[in-house]
This record gives sequence, structure tokens and C-alpha cells, in this order.
Amino acid sequence: MKRYNFDEIIPRKGTDCEKYDHLQSHFGNGNAIPLWVADGDFRVPDFITAAIRYRADHEIYAYSFRSDGFFNSIINWQQNRHGWTIEREMILPTQGVVSTLASIIMAFTEAGEKVIIQPPVYTPFFTCVKDCGRTVVENPLKQVNGSYTFDFEGLLGKIDKQTRLLILCNPHNPVGRVWSEEELLILGDICLENNILIISDEIHSDLVFSGFKHVPLPKISDRLGANCIVCMAPSKTFNIAGLATSFVIIPDKKIRQKFDHFLHALHLSNGNLFGTVALQAAYQSGMDWVNQQNAYLEANRDFMLAFFRNKMPRIQMTNTEATYLAWIDVREYGMLEPEMNRMLIDKAGIVLNKGSIYGKEGIGYFRLNFACPRQVLEEALTRMENTLGGG
Ligand SMILES: Cc1ncc(COP(=O)(O)O)c(C=O)c1O
Repeated sequence: MKRYNFDEIIPRKGTDCEKYDHLQSHFGNGNAIPLWVADGDFRVPDFITAAIRYRADHEIYAYSFRSDGFFNSIINWQQNRHGWTIEREMILPTQGVVSTLASIIMAFTEAGEKVIIQPPVYTPFFTCVKDCGRTVVENPLKQVNGSYTFDFEGLLGKIDKQTRLLILCNPHNPVGRVWSEEELLILGDICLENNILIISDEIHSDLVFSGFKHVPLPKISDRLGANCIVCMAPSKTFNIAGLATSFVIIPDKKIRQKFDHFLHALHLSNGNLFGTVALQAAYQSGMDWVNQQNAYLEANRDFMLAFFRNKMPRIQMTNTEATYLAWIDVREYGMLEPEMNRMLIDKAGIVLNKGSIYGKEGIGYFRLNFACPRQVLEEALTRMENTLGGG
């Protein structure tokens, strides 16, 4: 078995990448360690790069289509990774998950209608709904023993005749939960009984750590499957977000036809040729690489948990069950968010995401992206300790 090296430090500055090349303009410190934008600092696996190079060598990149190989690679990946059997006709290719969320909102709701989200949650869940002229209804997650769960009572209290959609994040960015089958079943039933379609954003579903298992929502039952649109992509898993290639899986024929019609009406059905090539290579050959990456990420997570426990016990980190995003509680330092954020950027030289961008429930927290070589993570945490102080 080939061993991949996740310790390698690969310079990314000067490649027009948001994470590094926006450090100066966004934060005023071009040399900070960037632990913000959710992409990885790991090399894309060789089998993806080889497939892109092979296609690039042809030197004509004109109109293309997704062949059987594209659809079969998705079908096989779902089967082998998640034990989920899907049919080819359920898959509709899209060009990025966030634009897909916005498209679903436009296709399935009218102006002013309500969309439920469960903060603290990925910022575009707020902005997509608002920017499409729909109404955001926030039903915050509930905190139980330092972890998070859904607030079902809150949900029932917030549903009315204007409520059309719920956007689920599974696994959840930023709190790192892999929702259990029991939790999903209750949530799914409430939505079904109230005629609320679920958008299940499962972009992080391949990045799950030991002891946890991702359950695609439709796998729980046909009933729930018939009331949801699952959004997925290889972009987080394989560090290929720049190729803007994603897909939805829609088991219900009527819902699928409606969304397909919307995508065609906006001429959104064409794909990026290199994204198509990369997706196929990733899903055909990527199982072992993903397992190795997950093991490395899990060790990074454990390194962080131990670091905070031993050296900065005032910080509480939720037990990240999936994703490479840690959610850390810094409230014991008693500092205001802008003040701590500036200290981290200017004194420590590290950039995290402020918790407040995930909703007001995130105030007092930061999100830390640990998809980087261990050495970089250790340096960032040490700088944090030296700046904020330990015990
Ligand atoms: C939950 C979630 N959805 C979607 C995205 C981004 O998807 P895309 O780059 O395909 O628009 C992210 C990126 O962090 C995410 O965390």
C-alpha cells in the first residue's frame, strides 16, 4: 500500500489562493499562519493530478459531457464509503455546493417564505437565504454536556405555514457533529409532517473519524429520502474546491424533475471539464488516500485536544467527530471577540474564524482549521499559548 506524506509543507503563497493570498488584505498580516478558509494544505493525491495532466495533454478543452464513468464513480463511492445504494437517475451534477443551495432555495420557495437553519452554522446558510430574498428562521442547536444536538421543541415552535425548507448540515460545520440516525429520524419526521423539504448538505461526509459513521439522510428510510435533496462533492475530501464540481442526489422523481428543470432553465447543467475528470479519479481510486488523510486529521484533532487540556485548560474544544474544523470555546479568557481576534492576528500571528460569523451563538468561540501538517499546527498552538497564556 502506498503511504502518502501529510507532513510535507507546500508553499501556497502567490497561487491566488484565498487562505494565504488574502491574509494581508483581509487581516493586515500577510505572514500569519492561516487556519481559517476551509481547505487543506495537503497535496492533492497523485492519481487525481495524473488524470488532470493526462486530459490536459490533449490540448483541446471544448464542450464536454459527463459520461457513464462520472455517474458510476459516484454510485460506487456512495456504495463503498457509505453503504448507500443509489440509482444513476437520482444524480444531478452541479457546480459547487453553495451555488446549489441558493439554486434549491430559488427553485423551491417564493420570495419571503421561510427557511430554517440551525446555528452556529456555516455562514452561507444565512446569506444564501437572505440574498435570495427569503426569510431565515434560526433554530439554534442545543448544548448538552459540551456537545450539541438539535432543539426539536424549538423547531416545532418555529414552524408555520410560510416555512418551506430546512437546511441540514451533516456532518455539521462548525461544531463537528456527525448526526446520529436517531437524531436524523426525529428531525426528518418533523419536517415530513409539516411539509418542509430538507436540503441535506453532506459535503463533509467523507471526513468522519473513528467511532462515528455518516448516515446519508435517505438511507434511513424511503419516507425521509422522498423529502430531501442531498448535496455532496469531492471538494473538501480531496482538496479540489477550486474545480467547482459537485452533485445532488434526489431520490424523489417529482422533486428531481423540478430541480432539473430549474438547472436547465438557468443553463447550469454544463460542467467544468477538469472538475469532471478529477471527481472520477477521486472516487475511482481515492478510498485508501481518504482513509490515510482521515487518520492524519484525527491525530491532529487528538493533538489539539491534548494541547488544550495540558497547556491551555481554559479553552474547551468540542469533540470534533468529523471535518477538519475545530470549534473552540474561549469564553474563560473573558475577552471580547474583536479584542481577542486582533491579538491572535497581530501578536500570535495566526488567523482563525470568529465564532460570531456562524450566528450569535458562536460569540465566545473560534473555528480552527486543522487540515495542515502537524508541525504547522503545533507552531500555531504554541503561539496561541504564548499570546493568550496557559493555565
Ligand atoms: C457545509 C458546507 N457546505 C458547502 C461548502 C462549500 O461548498 P462549495 O465550495 O462547493 O460551494 C462548505 C465549505 O466550507 C461547507 O462547510
